[in-house]
Amino acid sequence: MQKICVAPSILSADFAAMGAAVEDLERCGADLIHCDVMDGTFVPKITFGSDMIAAVRRHTALPLDVHLMCVNPLVKAEDFIRAGADIVTVHAEACGKDLREVVRYIRTFGVRAGVAVSPDTPLRGIYHSLEEADMLLVMSVYPGRGGQKLIERTLAKAEEAKEFFAAHGLAKDIEMDGGITEENAAAVQAAGVNILVAGNTVFRSPDKAATIRALREARA
Ligand code: DX5
Ligand code: ZN
Repeated sequence: MQKICVAPSILSADFAAMGAAVEDLERCGADLIHCDVMDGTFVPKITFGSDMIAAVRRHTALPLDVHLMCVNPLVKAEDFIRAGADIVTVHAEACGKDLREVVRYIRTFGVRAGVAVSPDTPLRGIYHSLEEADMLLVMSVYPGRGGQKLIERTLAKAEEAKEFFAAHGLAKDIEMDGGITEENAAAVQAAGVNILVAGNTVFRSPDKAATIRALREARA
């Protein structure tokens, strides 16, 4: 089993005070910083681009987990890698038949590559790409905004991935993103997830350090 990590999403931070927000997350025990890049095409909203990743990079030594909700990720990935991303995750829906090529391309830069699947995207058809990726990101809400409720049926997809990886002797990370709370974190971990993304749950907490710890230790 991979190490359990908590990756707070800066989508829920005050964008006008991002440096301080990231420093605070590091002080509060975050394992990774999850950065949600939305391009206005793959999803309706636009958040930020690689300049934000470079700016955040100057405020933390934590790994930057960059979730690209973008079309044409093959063209855009390098920019985010040069800006300081440690993990670059692309959506299977945005890559289509090029998914494996995109994963391979990202890994040529020496960073980790993730594959994200939206709630209605099945894993069948992408297994050959997952074998080459470092991480699977199971979206537990429809991508596009924070603060939504976790869609329970997505847990089965994490379980399916856990079984596939175990059956093939593959040590991959499984990340889940969307609607994770202190209440459902144990079930999320039980499904095989080892990286828990949390936006609202962390940022709305009066005690971020305690919340991050509770998410990590939910199943302990
Ligand atoms: C949604 C984003 C998530 C989001 C999670 O498209 O990918 O990372 O910020 O936020 P919460 O934890 O509030 O659902
Ligand atoms: Zn995300």
